[in-house]
Amino acid sequence: MSVRKLFLLPGDGIGKETMAEVRKFITAMNEKFGSGFETEEGLVGGSAYDAHGVAISEADMEKALAADAVLFGAVGGPKWDSVPYEHRPEAGLLRLRKDLALFANLRPAICYPALANASSLKPEIVEGLDILIVRELTGGVYFGAPKEIIDLGNGQKRGIDTQVYDTYEIERIASVAFELARTRKNKVCSMEKRNVMKSGVLWNEVVTATHKAKYSDVQLDHMLADAGGMQLVRWPKQFDVIVTDNLFGDMLSDIAAMLTGSLGMLPSASLGAPDEVTGKRKAMYEPVHGSAPDIAGQGIANPIAMIASFAMCLRYSFNMIKEADDLETAIANVLERGIRTGDIMAEGCTKVGTEAMGDAILAEFLALAA
Ligand code: NAD
Ligand code: IPM
Ligand code: MN
Repeated sequence: MSVRKLFLLPGDGIGKETMAEVRKFITAMNEKFGSGFETEEGLVGGSAYDAHGVAISEADMEKALAADAVLFGAVGGPKWDSVPYEHRPEAGLLRLRKDLALFANLRPAICYPALANASSLKPEIVEGLDILIVRELTGGVYFGAPKEIIDLGNGQKRGIDTQVYDTYEIERIASVAFELARTRKNKVCSMEKRNVMKSGVLWNEVVTATHKAKYSDVQLDHMLADAGGMQLVRWPKQFDVIVTDNLFGDMLSDIAAMLTGSLGMLPSASLGAPDEVTGKRKAMYEPVHGSAPDIAGQGIANPIAMIASFAMCLRYSFNMIKEADDLETAIANVLERGIRTGDIMAEGCTKVGTEAMGDAILAEFLALAA
């Protein structure tokens, strides 16, 4: 039996609580199906800072690099508001993405039928929604240099961030979006701001050229990113795959989260390029939400984004398609039965905490597999 090496980084706040639910699936799959998961666990974010004075230790970085897949909870919280910028919790997440070269972040936003009423939008706007945001994750303004605050000496300071994109970075993320579109409704909408940004002009040019060279069978549209945000709340079902840069992708995916009912519903997969010899990709699976300091420690966080991120791990890192499908069906069935955490609670439903939601999905998953 093959060994599947998972490296777990629960992080801070609700990250610890939601990861505990995923651990139950890993244990059950090993015991019941002989899935062969081997897990190691590390510290990231504020938890790592408290233990080691850095947002992730070198030893844990090595384990992340050696694993078949990393499962990431969430980082951050007010406790670390005043730590030095380079050691803030979020720096651990950014280092993982950069050093593992995880340039492609897939953020599916699916509105489960049972949750059409949980969105702040009208049910007919979100019912049946199934879109995929493909966010560039290792470039743009997150990593461009210079990035600094300069003292101008006259009582003024200047904060500088730099948006940089090279052709190859745009080409490879566009290719991921086109490839994925071919497995879906065959439509890509590229979002940038070419009307004000040079990097947006290049983005548009390269996406267009990539389309023409290799993917002309896919429908391609372009939209300015601000208008794209508006269209996402006006009529989100017009989209299939959206491809966009690091910062716009961050913002547009939080908007998309609310179409699905809650930020606690949105999973993601962060993927590297396939290895030239083995074909294997480095990968990390991380919910879109953060450490939710306002509800951390209360046992009420929604674990679905984390559990659905594990389903993406089964699909993309281990090609365990039946298990991934079963897990996603289990989530849908549990929601259908009216079992809800507080963030997606509706009239007539049963309100449960993090553990009970995890247990209900696990029981359903095992029943589907039997
Ligand atoms: P957040 O995503 O932590 O929370 C935003 C709101 O959504 C809060 O009201 C929270 O209670 C709610 N929420 C989020 N996840 C939920 C879940 N699973 N179940 C129920 N409710 C949920 O964003 P924030 O408050 O802006 O940021 C808090 C910290 O998290 C910051 O330090 C930020 O940098 C960090 N952050 C980390 C990640 C990550 O680790 N991937 C992502 C986003 C933000
Ligand atoms: C996300 C988060 C991160 C980002 C932060 C915590 C660094 O908001 O994954 O969406 O901005 O990429
Ligand atoms: Mn974000």
